[in-house]
Amino acid sequence: MCKPLIAGNWKMHGTTDSAVTLAGQLSATWKASAVEMILFPSFVHLAAVREAIAGSAIALGAQNVSQHAAGAFTGEISAEMLVDQGCKYVLVGHSERRALFGESNETVAEKFKAAQGAGLTPILCVGESLQQRQKMQTVEVVTDQITAVIDAVGLDNVCRAVIAYEPVWAIGTGETATPEQAQEVHRAIREQLGDLGVATTLLYGGSVKASNAAALFAQPDINGGLVGGASLEAEEFLNIAQSIEA
Ligand code: 13P
Repeated sequence: MCKPLIAGNWKMHGTTDSAVTLAGQLSATWKASAVEMILFPSFVHLAAVREAIAGSAIALGAQNVSQHAAGAFTGEISAEMLVDQGCKYVLVGHSERRALFGESNETVAEKFKAAQGAGLTPILCVGESLQQRQKMQTVEVVTDQITAVIDAVGLDNVCRAVIAYEPVWAIGTGETATPEQAQEVHRAIREQLGDLGVATTLLYGGSVKASNAAALFAQPDINGGLVGGASLEAEEFLNIAQSIEA
């Protein structure tokens, strides 16, 4: 069985106060269920959010991690530091990291390995640009992004992580993949993983809202969502979360 997840990526938003308020609103309402909720605040808000969700059913995650274990890497955060902060999950290879900060497939694979080696569950983000979709390269791009990680850590280790398909053209644009478009890519990912991947959790991300979540999550190979903008508002995010069928 794939474990259903709802993840809120808060990106570079908020203050300590706003992060604590939002986390408090969510933890007051969200009860333990088969669906796990995970919050990804900025690094500097991890400790405050950890306190705000303590004792609740919500898990903590970070938005990025260094591929290095320790050393002279000014400004970087190691996987061990994230574990020490109470993180259970970490995003790796988010398209904003790939596009704006030059993270290659190989760097993403190293980060995945470092995260899993420290005991974190990586959420590997993959997705094609609009141009790649128009050239009919979607499945090739996405499977290549996953192959780079399989080559680094092995198929079994990829299958025990989480994969989030986030088409770049749908992120923060208000334009969502149709449920059919999303399912087509999720199916291709599931086929790439083979027998070991039948229980791997696959998330969809890209302008998920309460109004489109149920149709996306009803697709057979979509096991939950990775939500950006709509995760910054408690009621909207809870509505999205409640539309996942466990
Ligand atoms: P939006 O939901 O704002 O489109 O962001 C998606 C995303 O990038 C989540 O990681």
